[in-house]
Amino acid sequence: AAVADLAGRHVVVSAGGTREPLDPVRYLGNRSSGKQGYALAATAAARGARVTLVAGNTELPDPVGVDVVPVGTARQLREAVLKAAADADAVVMAAAVADFRPAVYTTAKIKKVEGREPEPIVLVRNPDILAELSADRARPGQVVVGFAAETDDVLANGRAKLARKGCDLLVVNEVGEHKAFGSAENEAVILAADGTETPVPYGPKEALADTVWDLVGPRLAENHR
Ligand code: C5P
Repeated sequence: AAVADLAGRHVVVSAGGTREPLDPVRYLGNRSSGKQGYALAATAAARGARVTLVAGNTELPDPVGVDVVPVGTARQLREAVLKAAADADAVVMAAAVADFRPAVYTTAKIKKVEGREPEPIVLVRNPDILAELSADRARPGQVVVGFAAETDDVLANGRAKLARKGCDLLVVNEVGEHKAFGSAENEAVILAADGTETPVPYGPKEALADTVWDLVGPRLAENHR
């Protein structure tokens, strides 16, 4: 957009996938490309916002005019997002945060032992950053946005997730083998806590990003500008 409607605002965007290490050379990761989060950061900057981009794993170049904070694990992402959110008007969690991490990190590389089966990998839950941000807003009126990639019952699961997480907006998209991951395009429905639903037709991730900011803008607290 040519309009600097986010001027004077600080927005925090998380993007990319987290990596949860098993040992110094191995990790559990996911297929997130980071493209949607980077598009959100770039469009917010183009609309005049000061942008902090907390970036998990991605191959993408830093967007111009954006403050990039690189992170590895979900717990590192949590620390960086909470720190940046302290003075933010809006936080958009586009990162693919690992729900689970290996219970044990082995400081030396795990080795195969002749004649013995490998140890099973035990997982523990990671903190839910979106739920935490929504429950303990760093500022009154801070707008919190989440993403939900669903493979089935997309809308029903999305509505339930919006309520469970407690965020203001949830961008729900259907994922599958050939949908969303790594692609430059996306199709989504943006669910709002007030019950409104905004369908976003299949198109560039920048267009979806602009629609997110269009919905965030009017929800921003006036007293923080
Ligand atoms: O629960 P699920 O992973 O489907 O939720 C997706 C949304 O929650 C995304 O916005 C993601 O960034 C966020 N999330 C989070 N912390 C987690 C898992 C997901 O903030 N541990």
